[in-house]
Amino acid sequence: MQVVAATIFVFALLQELTHGEEFGYDGSIGPEYWGERYRECAGKHQSPININVLRVKQVTLPDLVLVGFDDSIDDVHVTNNGHTVLIEVKNEPHPRVRGGPLDGDYVFSQMHFHWGDNDTFGSEDKINHRSFPMELHMVFFKEEYGSAVEAVKHSDGLTVLAFFYELDRHQHPAYDEITLALVNVTEPHTSVVMSHPFSFLNILPYDLKRYFTYKGSLTTPPCSEVVLWLDFEQPIRLTHEQIEAFREIRSSHGKITHNFRPIQPIGDRVVYYNIDNNYYVYNEIEEHEETTTLRPSRRKKGNDAHSLVPTVYTISFTLMMLFSL
Ligand SMILES: *[C@@H]1O[C@H](CO)[C@@H](O)[C@H](O)[C@H]1NC(C)=O
Ligand SMILES: *[C@@H]1O[C@H](CO)[C@@H](O)[C@H](O)[C@H]1NC(C)=O
Ligand SMILES: [Zn+2]
Repeated sequence: MQVVAATIFVFALLQELTHGEEFGYDGSIGPEYWGERYRECAGKHQSPININVLRVKQVTLPDLVLVGFDDSIDDVHVTNNGHTVLIEVKNEPHPRVRGGPLDGDYVFSQMHFHWGDNDTFGSEDKINHRSFPMELHMVFFKEEYGSAVEAVKHSDGLTVLAFFYELDRHQHPAYDEITLALVNVTEPHTSVVMSHPFSFLNILPYDLKRYFTYKGSLTTPPCSEVVLWLDFEQPIRLTHEQIEAFREIRSSHGKITHNFRPIQPIGDRVVYYNIDNNYYVYNEIEEHEETTTLRPSRRKKGNDAHSLVPTVYTISFTLMMLFSL
């Protein structure tokens, strides 16, 4: 009896260890070879892709509803799984998302990061062939499938909210907790619990209305084509040092200096670009905008600092609605 139990345990351990590292980003286990072992990695609707902004189809979808994103979550686990840094939450109920292009409710499963050797590469999707130094993937499974493992068997099983990072001179305070935890998970298959509560909204960009959306796949084996991607246009801004902290993470082959898959053919797919007609992007404000008179033509283009105000109202209104749920 004990021998059987021990054998099962060793087998499970071996499976766990090898499963964690049967793919990588270089050499004979690199992305070019994933298709040999994992059929779907050679599929026609793979991710990541390059998004050509001139080819997107502009749409105005229903509002995205982000439930529990401003909750203060206190049981947050940060794990090095040998490929990336995973953030998981144990509190119930998990945050969830619905609305936008989604049919039904999607429940949070985990979030993780992709980065590159230096700040010129690292994101998986690209915008007009531009790479960003890092990308965040928040993975959600369709509630009716009950778990991420089951959801991967269905073509509408998962949605991933993807966010790009770009460099800033100022530290992003909400990321200090994450980079502090990274120091304790540099070795593969290690995990820590974050020492302070954590809120999803704090680590996301301000503008959650403008995003690209398309049907694709997991960007790691088994590359299942079950993901509706939402790539938010506004990047999250971190310092070079905050991004550098991720490059200290190790797999059994040494430091994970990069873990992004190269772009895949877009094929017959259409990328939709969601914009809210009443909404304007603040970073289009020009320098001489400080003058008090605004030319009507500028107003029409929406480059008006005052247009931020309705946005704030919209967001807090959405949050108020969430509280009442
Ligand atoms: C960044 O990394 C790429 C890929 O390794 C390399 O080709 C490039 O020279 C590096 N750029 C800088 C500025 O170090
Ligand atoms: C990381 O480890 C240090 C020293 O072992 C400990 O003081 C610190 O609280 C840990 N940080 C986290 C986030 O667990
Ligand atoms: Zn990912």
